[in-house]
Amino acid sequence: MAFSPSGVLYVATGDGGIFRINDGAKSRDKAAAGRQIYRQHCASCHGAKLEGQPNWRVRKPNGRLPAPPHDETGHTWHHTDDVLFGITKKGIAGFASPGYESDMPAYKDILTDEQIWAVLAFIKSRWSEEIQARHKARGAGNGG
Ligand code: HEC
Repeated sequence: MAFSPSGVLYVATGDGGIFRINDGAKSRDKAAAGRQIYRQHCASCHGAKLEGQPNWRVRKPNGRLPAPPHDETGHTWHHTDDVLFGITKKGIAGFASPGYESDMPAYKDILTDEQIWAVLAFIKSRWSEEIQARHKARGAGNGG
């Protein structure tokens, strides 16, 4: 880890990548913690590099969707922070039509609210500045 005078933090991700966090110490710490949580709880489905599962737009034989990417190629960044938080905490059910079946687990008994915000901060820290700006422009940059 290295700090530049401007407070920008570059973190080696261990998979050959580097991500940059540039909005203050609080979100830096949160994103670093979130990375561990992501690896432990999300990477098995959403991918070590946030790439999602192969053919994630195509339903599986059981009718359920594969896990989508959380990088810029997915639609995670189209959702507000509150929706992302809600999906992670409660699962997809509350955000889909009744009876919708999904493999996305609810983390309400597994992660604290703080841990959920941390993992979302990590995911967001992997987006380019442009996508982060577009996410904010959607009124989505609250809370995280
Ligand atoms: C067991 C596999 C699995 C794990 C583990 C998992 N997810 Fe998911 N996730 C999914 C699937 C499958 C979907 C798509 C669900 C659907 O649309 O039916 C999804 C969807 C999502 C979405 C909605 C994305 C969008 O663009 O609509 C978010 C946000 C999300 N997951 C966050 C997380 C986070 C954060 C973690 C770790 C704390 C996690 N997921 C762990 C399978 C998983």
